[in-house]
Parts: sequence; C-alpha cells; structure tokens
Amino acid sequence: MTTAAILARDLTRARDRTLALVNFDDVELHRQYDPLMSPLVWDLAHIGQQEELWLLRGGDPDRPGMLPADVEGLYDAFTHPRASRVDLPLLTPEQARKYCATVRSRVYDQLENLPGDADGSAEGFVFGLVLSHEHQHDETMLQALNLRAGPPLLGTGSPLPAGRSDLAGTSVLVPGGEFVLGVNAADEPFALDNERPAHCVDVATFRIGRVPVTNREWRAFIDDGGYRQPRWWSERGWRHCLQAGLSAPEFWGPDHRSRVRFGCVEELPDDEPVQHVSYFEAQAYAAWAGARLPTEIEWEKACAWDPALGARRRYPWGSAQVSPQLANLDGAALRPAPIGAYPGGASAYGAQQLLGDVWEWTSSPLRPWPGFHPMIYQRYSEPFFDGDYRVLRGGSWAVAREILRPSFRNWDHPYRRQIFAGVRLAWDV
Ligand SMILES: [Fe+2]
Repeated sequence: MTTAAILARDLTRARDRTLALVNFDDVELHRQYDPLMSPLVWDLAHIGQQEELWLLRGGDPDRPGMLPADVEGLYDAFTHPRASRVDLPLLTPEQARKYCATVRSRVYDQLENLPGDADGSAEGFVFGLVLSHEHQHDETMLQALNLRAGPPLLGTGSPLPAGRSDLAGTSVLVPGGEFVLGVNAADEPFALDNERPAHCVDVATFRIGRVPVTNREWRAFIDDGGYRQPRWWSERGWRHCLQAGLSAPEFWGPDHRSRVRFGCVEELPDDEPVQHVSYFEAQAYAAWAGARLPTEIEWEKACAWDPALGARRRYPWGSAQVSPQLANLDGAALRPAPIGAYPGGASAYGAQQLLGDVWEWTSSPLRPWPGFHPMIYQRYSEPFFDGDYRVLRGGSWAVAREILRPSFRNWDHPYRRQIFAGVRLAWDV
C-alpha cells in the first residue's frame, strides 16, 4: 500500500470512530457533562477546523477558510477553555457534520500531494498529525461520555481476554546501561515533535511492575487508611487530597466494591488495572507500597529497548503489527483488560500491558528532549514544557493503534483523574 492509501484508510477509520461518538441527538451533543469537558459538538467541529487549517491552509490561520473568522475562532482551544465552550454560539450538529465532511472530501483530493513538515520530516507527516489529533479528541470525547449522568449510551464494551491475577505485585529487572531514548523521523515518520530526536541515555538498574496496579491492590491501600495518612503523600498532594476530599479513585462506589462506568453501575473487577487516579494519588500509593513511580525514561527503556539486539523495538513485543491478541487499544472495550491478559505483548524485559489498558503516570515533568525542534503545529508541545504537567505513558484502551508508539508522550495536571490513567510501580535496586 502507498503512504497515501494507508493515510486514506486510517483517516476514514478515524472519522467512522468520531461519527459513532456523536451519533446522538442535538440536545445530547450540546450538553456539557462536566465543566472539565467540552460539549461533544465542539469537539466535532474542532476536529474539522484543525483538519482544514493543517491540511488545506498549510497551517496559516490568515489564509481564508470555509468558516467565517469569528465562527472559526470559537474552535480555538487556547482562547476558549473547556468550561466556557457550552455558552458559545457553536455550529449546530448538522452544520458541524457537513463542515467536517466537506473538509474531508477536499483532504482526500490532497492525498496525492503529501507535504512533509518544515524540518524535513516524513512524507505525509501533517496528515499523520491530523490523524493523531482526531483520535486524541475521540479519547477526550470518551472521557466526556464517561462523566455523563444518566443511562448508558455506549453499552458496556466488547469482550476482553482473561487475565492472571497471580501477576499482581510482581516486577521485572531492567539492568542499567545506555539505551536509545526517543525516535527519529526516519524510523517513526509520524512521531510528534516531543518524541524526537533519538539520543543515548544512561539509566541505572531498576525494577518495574510486570503489570499495572490493580483495583484489588488499590482497595488495600484505602483499607489501610491510605487516604487519611499524610505520611504517604507529598505536601502538595496531601493539600489537594484534603481540599478535593479524595477517598478513593473517581467513579468508585462508597463501598469500594462497585463503580460507575459509562453510565453502568457494576461490580469493581478486582484484577483490572486501577483507573481514574491522579498523579498525587499514584505517588501516595507508590510510597505506601514501598515503591515509587518510574521516570518516563525508565518506562520507555522497559517498553522499547531490546538488550540482546542493542536496539529499540517498534513495539514492546517486537515488530508485529498491533492486534487484539497483543494489546487492548482502539476504544471498543470501554475498559482496561485484566492484568496478565496479553502475555504475548510482553517487552524484552518481561513487562506486560505497557501499551493500551491505562495511561501510566510517571514521575517526570514534561520537558523537551535535547535537540527538540517544534513541528509545524508549534503549540502542540512547546507551551506545556514549563508548566505543571506530569508525563503519562503507554496509552489507554481508548487510544487508537495507529497513533501509539512506545515513544508517545502524554501529559496532564497532577490532580487530573477523569483521564483513563493508572499506575505502574518502580523500585531502585
Ligand atoms: Fe484539539
């Protein structure tokens, strides 16, 4: 398949996914489920607006587009915080769908002429960027739908493989030494600016969880008074814990045996990775467990490095394409798989479920790699480098396989927990 054909297929797949997430009536699409999230109709039109800007107008906002300037301005994420978007005179769902479809039909025509990025990165790079953007918003829309009060709109999700509960609490050794952190466009044409360039980093020996921390393990932390004892928390984390009144992960029932997930009340699955915990909680849990969070550099080594080859693997398990036998991705499951569900997806060091299931908090603030060069979408990473953001790695069940790599970096405020984030522990050796 040519790059153009692959991009056309992937863009179509992303759009099918987006449209399935807005396949509701107009009232629903204009609702704001939570001040943290946009109404779904904003995400829909914003996906089209960004696609038009990057693929049809060369990223130049001064080049006239299909929407009047004042309407286009409604979809600038930097100007309008999420909490205020519901009050804007947004396009109607019908207008937004039509706009997105018109943009997309012109984009398909452009696929014959694949522009790279200004820094000489790969053919079709900007299409990959737009693809990633759409899928990232699809995950955001899933976060919104998970916060929605009322009967379920999406069902309970597709089946997942069985796990192995005896892997809980086990770890693998990652011997010290240099490895290659990050990637270059030559290896990963669609890697975003903050993943580049590849460079050598020395890492001391450490241990890392074979699997993420489970709900059952987290319940033991609660039962042991974890949310009531400042000694496990950072000073700032404890202040936040008190102020926000935290006592369990978000969406857990008061008995800590049930949860609400996409509008369904269900028994809490003991062997599933814990979700909806903040960085502050992750840090406290790790301290209670006699461990710590991994740095993102440790995480990437445990995920991608093959010490026998002295080279990176494309995926933790090697070069085989992502499949439902190897990782829980693409969003259909609506939940993480139980620990141990993907033995074939283990990394060279034996760590499992690094890609998919839950985003994993790391102890690292978001910073550029040495030699960082902003991509055409300059505001993707750069404005966040000096902020109060912690890096999350590995992607959740809601991430599309096309956009995920071991080098992919996500970030959020340390107090956020509506995201599909969990924890993997690490230990000094
Ligand atoms: Fe966006």
